[in-house]
Amino acid sequence: MTKPLRHVFVCSQQRPPNHPRGSCAAAGASPLLQAFWAELQKRQAYEQIAITYSGCLGPCDGGPNVLVYPEGVLYRGVTPADVAEVFDRHLEGGEVVERLRADAALW
Ligand code: FES
Repeated sequence: MTKPLRHVFVCSQQRPPNHPRGSCAAAGASPLLQAFWAELQKRQAYEQIAITYSGCLGPCDGGPNVLVYPEGVLYRGVTPADVAEVFDRHLEGGEVVERLRADAALW
């Protein structure tokens, strides 16, 4: 495997029901992760983009949260419907998807 151009971390943290911090898993991280992997397969972009599930990224409310490096951009409330746009504009196009980006005060 070569070093990817961009690395996407999809928070898949689970917590018990009614935990005060909630979790990205409860907010739909699993179908989101599947959508990222399916899009990666569809585009055959394995040499350019890496998709990795992760534990808690920090700001749990407003998930599922997705962190993209090397830019260090945090996306919040991402849904499977957003995945193609994230690929088109950021992962392949290099342009941050501002409508999904965490507030600067948070990240
Ligand atoms: S549970 Fe996903 S950021 Fe904390």
